[in-house]
Amino acid sequence: MNKVAEITTTFFGYLKRPDLYPELRRKIWKNLFNRSSALRGKEEAEIWCKNLAVSEKDFIEKVLKITFAPFHDIFPQEYEAAVQAQEKAPIKMGGAGSLSVIYYINEFAKAQSSVETGVAYGWSSFAALASLVSRNGTLYSSDMPYILQNQSEDFVGCVIPEKYKNNWDLYRFADKESLPKIFEKTATFDVVHYDSDKTYDGRMWAYKILWDKLRNGGVFMSDDVGDNAAFKDYCEQNSRKPYIIEFDGKYAGVIIKE
Ligand SMILES: C[S@@+](CC[C@H](N)C(=O)[O-])C[C@H]1O[C@@H](n2cnc3c(N)ncnc32)[C@H](O)[C@@H]1O
Repeated sequence: MNKVAEITTTFFGYLKRPDLYPELRRKIWKNLFNRSSALRGKEEAEIWCKNLAVSEKDFIEKVLKITFAPFHDIFPQEYEAAVQAQEKAPIKMGGAGSLSVIYYINEFAKAQSSVETGVAYGWSSFAALASLVSRNGTLYSSDMPYILQNQSEDFVGCVIPEKYKNNWDLYRFADKESLPKIFEKTATFDVVHYDSDKTYDGRMWAYKILWDKLRNGGVFMSDDVGDNAAFKDYCEQNSRKPYIIEFDGKYAGVIIKE
């Protein structure tokens, strides 16, 4: 699809969804006046991440002090079914980050209430729920559909095992609309996982309000923190101690709230 066709299809996709009009207004504004936010400070962020990075295993064993086993070894049948569900989906969506880190931060926090932004196929939701269901906890998720793909909504969360879905509460709006609705349901969270709007400004807006809702001792995680300098700047400006985990050539950032 060429650029003009993509913009036109996106625009008419939004027009069919009145619940996403606020996001459409923000996207138009951003494209007219603030186009540089996606990659702002990428080069310095990548160097910063590379210098701090540890493996999943080292983070889980040395920081969380939990014996590490890869997520797919702990839940082999559910994982295999999830891979097949993704293969059957006719829609291409964003992929998974470190399922092991997501699972173990929920275990570490003995989470009852977790919040995540960005679901797509639902890999991160699957990993968080695998821990939460053992305590009958709840995962609150915010996810805006892929506007360019008809039918994408039917496949959001398609890799999540059916037996976990009673513990899952999904809000299908942009974060700026979903998060206030989620906060009406629960005032504080044990775990936050951010994996939606990856622009610098999107992250800076969400990090602050999500951090304020995290309980002391809770765990904050953001994916793809080498994409721009938002996570680095957020940590430096607010004196947070970050852990950077390298996985599949990408970086996730984690902060434990003291
Ligand atoms: C990288 S994917 C999430 C992958 C998922 N966490 C996983 O592990 O499988 C990003 C998702 O965030 C959604 N998204 C992007 N911008 C958003 C926004 N402003 N508000 C809510 N969701 C958004 C996308 O539509 C997509 O479903």
